[in-house]
Amino acid sequence: MKIWAHRGCSQMYPENTLLAFEKAAIGGLEGIELDIQMTKDGELVVIHDERVDRTTEGSGFVRDFTLAQLKRLHIYADVHPGQEIPTMKEALELLTPFMRKGLRLNIELKNSVYPYEGMEEKIVDLVGMYGLEKNVVYSSFSALSLERLRGIDSQTEIGILDTRVSDCFYKLKGGCGAQALHPYWQAIDLSAERLQGYTVRAYFGGHLYPEKPTGTKLDLAALEKKGITDVFLNEPERYL
Ligand code: G3P
Ligand code: CA
Repeated sequence: MKIWAHRGCSQMYPENTLLAFEKAAIGGLEGIELDIQMTKDGELVVIHDERVDRTTEGSGFVRDFTLAQLKRLHIYADVHPGQEIPTMKEALELLTPFMRKGLRLNIELKNSVYPYEGMEEKIVDLVGMYGLEKNVVYSSFSALSLERLRGIDSQTEIGILDTRVSDCFYKLKGGCGAQALHPYWQAIDLSAERLQGYTVRAYFGGHLYPEKPTGTKLDLAALEKKGITDVFLNEPERYL
């Protein structure tokens, strides 16, 4: 089982921050997953929600803030203060040395609610500037966006997101250009035989910082039997 840090080490540190990524990068994991949205002035920033309300003291949609305005916000954190919303460029600056040594990065384009125009071109250009194509996996819930991305970049790996693995499979067969399936870990509704040969990276909806860890640990061997090859975990460091 290959283990990825979901939004960085997001149980012990604030999600999608440079701190959470740094902690994940030094841990010997398969890779890190993060989410990107786009600002009013077209900058790619790393934040999960379309709005800033849940993770910062601000209020409103990311797309209505300029980068300068977003940078004035603070990520909620009691024992880990000083974190701000990172740009995708800042995340790549931090992670490039680790990625050159083999760490992978799953960049989830958060464009199924707002189909940010030009997002695909921008992220492909940025990853290309760092020469990290071989270490990146793009993903999105939007099959249309992935098709667009595949038209721009024919090589980099793509994973299609949905809840049920059967829906991922359906989108994959529909021609979104993905090689991998990214379903919810409890929605594996096809047999392992049907999934054989596919990379199945399952995400886990666990608790996030600053909630306390649940103390539960997944049975990775049982998940492997279901055909899951990789898992995205909020507390990946517990499994190393
Ligand atoms: O990419 C897997 C997973 O992150 C998708 O769900 O809501 O955590 O972005 P979400
Ligand atoms: Ca995500």
